Amino acid sequence: MTDPAPRDDDSRDVDDRSRDVYSPRQVVDDRPHYGSRGRGRQPDRGATVPLAVLGLGAMGTALARTWLAAGHPTTVWNRSRARAEPLVAEGATLADTAAEAVAATPLTVVCLLDDASVGAALADAELAGRDLVNLTTGSPVQARARAAWAHERGARYLDGGIMAVPPMVGSSPDRGYILYSGSRALFDEHGRTLAVPLDTRYVGADPGFAALHDVALLSAMTGMFAGVSHAFALVRAAGVPARPFAPLLVEWLRAMAASASATAEHLDGGDYTTGVVSTLAMQVAGSATLRRTAAELGVDAGLLTPYLAAMERRLADGHADEGITGVIDTLLPDLTCGTRDPRPATREPRPGIRGPGLGARGRCHPVQRDRGG
Ligand SMILES: NC(=O)c1ccc[n+]([C@@H]2O[C@H](COP(=O)([O-])OP(=O)(O)OC[C@H]3O[C@@H](n4cnc5c(N)ncnc54)[C@H](OP(=O)(O)O)[C@@H]3O)[C@@H](O)[C@H]2O)c1
Repeated sequence: MTDPAPRDDDSRDVDDRSRDVYSPRQVVDDRPHYGSRGRGRQPDRGATVPLAVLGLGAMGTALARTWLAAGHPTTVWNRSRARAEPLVAEGATLADTAAEAVAATPLTVVCLLDDASVGAALADAELAGRDLVNLTTGSPVQARARAAWAHERGARYLDGGIMAVPPMVGSSPDRGYILYSGSRALFDEHGRTLAVPLDTRYVGADPGFAALHDVALLSAMTGMFAGVSHAFALVRAAGVPARPFAPLLVEWLRAMAASASATAEHLDGGDYTTGVVSTLAMQVAGSATLRRTAAELGVDAGLLTPYLAAMERRLADGHADEGITGVIDTLLPDLTCGTRDPRPATREPRPGIRGPGLGARGRCHPVQRDRGG
């Protein structure tokens, strides 16, 4: 999906910035930014600006409570009124409808179950001239469609992906962050307010990018959970208690997580063999031991085997000297990536996509593969 980002009044600026979306400033810098662009709105420098929070589930409640505690006049709305009562007791203003909450303040934060609930809740809201920050988890395509929907109604739109669980909201040092993408002007103007509950990371003008990054990180987490489940199953099947094993597991996962940086170097540099100390050939040989041990203990290896199979396919394609980076290429659709990759789209899966990373190659378009031929 490579549709251009829906445009709002700051689209020229944000489109220009989207080219350096992966610059260290944009990805790492979590300080609020105060832009001078916009529709005459003033950046919320130090001010406890009013805002509305729609959705008071576990996450919406944690967010609203933090803004309230920081002194922001906070209007709240929830489909089930009872969930709003504790916040009202703490000083929030209750709106009878979502439309009333949106009308109460220029800035509305939405944190509902899914994209369908956002559409349902905001169906009757007057959005013209409003700033909408949608922290509801969704896919990149849903985020772009929701941004276009908001733009059509005259609102600026910022999408967000929350990288935290409710106890991390507002707390320190375990504070998480929120990925943002969409209107840079909105992000700049409300940066200080948005940074109250959690740190902020702006990842680009494309409204789908926050969801993309969110889902990528959640997917990595899911794979980790799968490995952790298998590891506990092994030791449990052997009668080893879980508690003494857990610190070993945590320490090992922390050490191995750092390998993601080397993988990124390979992907963006194009040479998947640089600095490899654990070759694919060695790792595939070792994976036989993972399978054998699971079988010896009667543990179902079903959470591991798809990944092991991908490593074996990559090895069979002749990449013994790589580490595990090449496995990523086995997962990708066929891509046409501008002029730097001269190979035409073929009817067969290509063995691997080499050369500079996607960011350096510009926009890439999935190619419909003819699986019948
Ligand atoms: N909790 C987490 O750990 C966590 C972490 C990161 C991101 N998130 C994301 O944050 C969002 C909210 O999560 P949550 O934990 O707060 O969920 P939750 O506790 O299940 O609350 C869901 C909220 O959505 C509302 N809702 C559901 N369907 C609706 C509809 N059709 N119309 C209007 N409102 C509707 C619910 O209203 P009622 O009270 O009336 O049912 C409630 O306010 C989700 O997108 C989630 O993926 C959550």
